[in-house]
Formats: sequence, structure tokens, C-alpha cells
Amino acid sequence: MYISHMKRILMVCLGNICRSPVAEGVMKEKAKKHKLDIVVASAGTSGFHEGEAPDKRSTLNAAEHGVDIRNQKSRPLRKDDFERFDLIFTMDESNYHNALAIGDKKNHHKVRMIMNEVHPNSNQSVPDPYFGNDGFEDVFQMLDEACEKIALKLKNDEY
Ligand code: 4NP
Repeated sequence: MYISHMKRILMVCLGNICRSPVAEGVMKEKAKKHKLDIVVASAGTSGFHEGEAPDKRSTLNAAEHGVDIRNQKSRPLRKDDFERFDLIFTMDESNYHNALAIGDKKNHHKVRMIMNEVHPNSNQSVPDPYFGNDGFEDVFQMLDEACEKIALKLKNDEY
């Protein structure tokens, strides 16, 4: 019998302070809800905010939904993440292309745009909310839908 190993999932955006920390927090909640044995982390394609906690606007919005992301710390995406993780979900097309440039070609199949899990082949983006103030709830709702879908696919061994 083939026993699939515990999947390791990495959520990726640009700064790793607004979108991917929410994706990490929501995915961890989905793992609890669906009793999935997975590892979840997040990173940014840039190191602009390395070492910083998530943006307060993301932290507050996530908290309104019972998701605690306060203890996360921003860190840049590294080449070895492509060896250590099985699935790398990017928030938008720019993150997608920047991520591919960091990882070896043989690992490019691990990288996906996260909203394609909900709307296959749509290449829809989770919009960057950093320069506005009202995008955070939309970001949460999109990521909640995507992470629920990812959880169901993991349950059904579809990766
Ligand atoms: P994130 O948002 O990629 O969702 O973390 C951003 C955070 C910081 C910047 C841009 C986007 N920035 O330009 O510093």
C-alpha cells in the first residue's frame, strides 16, 4: 500500500506581511477543522519586511474571524524551500513568476497560483491590499475559500 507522506505547504506573497500570513493562518485552521496532518508556513518573494510581524490590518481582520496570526514573522523565499515544501501557493501572477525565478526548474511543478484551486486556469489574483485600507476582508474571504478547497483536495489525495 502506498502511504503518502505529510504534505508541506508554503504560502507566498511579496512582503509576507499582508496576504501570505493570512493564508498560513487560515490553512492551519482548515487543517484543524479537517484533521489534516500538514505543515504550513509562509514567505515573501522580497525580503523588504524580513523579521517583521504581519501588518496590523491583516492581524485585526484575521482576528475578527478567529484566526490568530500575531506570532508570525516575515521571511524571504529561499531556493531550498523548493526542496522542503511539496506545494507552493502564490497570491498573484507576479509572485508566481518571481517564485519560479528562485527555485530550480525541476521543482517548478510545485508552484501554483492559489485562486486556481477555486477557479482552475483563471489565474485570478488575491489583490495586494498593502497600499489601500479596504481590501483586507476581501483577501480573507478569497483565502478562506481557497484554503477550504485545498483542504478538501488534500483529504481526497488529489495532490
Ligand atoms: P503582501 O503585501 O505581499 O501581501 O505582504 C505587501 C507588503 C509590502 C509591500 C507590498 C505588498 N511593500 O511594497 O512593502
